[in-house]
Amino acid sequence: SSESGGRRGALIVLEGCDKAGKSTQCRLLLEALKDAGKPCHLFAFPDRNTEIGKVIDQYLKCTKNLSDEAIHLLFSTNRWELVPTIRELLLNGESVVLDRYAFSGVAFSAAKGTMDLEWCMGPDVGLPQPDLVFFLNLTKEAASKRDDFGRERYEKTEFQEKVKSIFMKIQDPAYWKVIDADRSKEEVQKELFQLSLETIEKSKNKPILKLWD
Ligand code: TMP
Ligand code: MG
Repeated sequence: SSESGGRRGALIVLEGCDKAGKSTQCRLLLEALKDAGKPCHLFAFPDRNTEIGKVIDQYLKCTKNLSDEAIHLLFSTNRWELVPTIRELLLNGESVVLDRYAFSGVAFSAAKGTMDLEWCMGPDVGLPQPDLVFFLNLTKEAASKRDDFGRERYEKTEFQEKVKSIFMKIQDPAYWKVIDADRSKEEVQKELFQLSLETIEKSKNKPILKLWD
């Protein structure tokens, strides 16, 4: 189908701080959409399986050190390497759910305080713009109680608070929806599913826009 005329799928992103329940909600959302007869695919960033993703994985597990700039660019490259696949699916009428995207890229890097916001956004300018971003909002008390918190680089309460404030700064009301993630996973899931169905309907005849362009 053509870029402007065809009936495309929707690009739906889940964002949030670490341990907000994104991965669980992504899985549940995908199942629910499939059960509703909506063709869809799930990808997670970082995709740790590619060559670049393996380096990112080592960095996150603290078995490898890289400069702040270098790891930032690798995270971005890790998204760009999947763009052809994402575009093809969308133009083929299939929806794509992403577990993190460029917003995590900017929020986590800018929170370090060594790179300014605009520099951080640069490499991701022009990525396919999501039709909907769910920001799973978790209080810091709830976050630090969740399983496994503190195992990887960045999983520290103070740093996560900085990350959250940058997420708030870069949110665009055109596609950004804050979700209360302190609730049960069933309640959260129900809301994500309903809003996703609406977005899939509304996005069908819209062109794919470019992020931060
Ligand atoms: P994950 O736990 O969802 O696999 O993400 C791993 C960590 O990487 C998480 O702390 C967020 C961080 N991150 C970045 O710093 N930049 C990025 O571009 C992405 C996608 C994640
Ligand atoms: Mg993690």
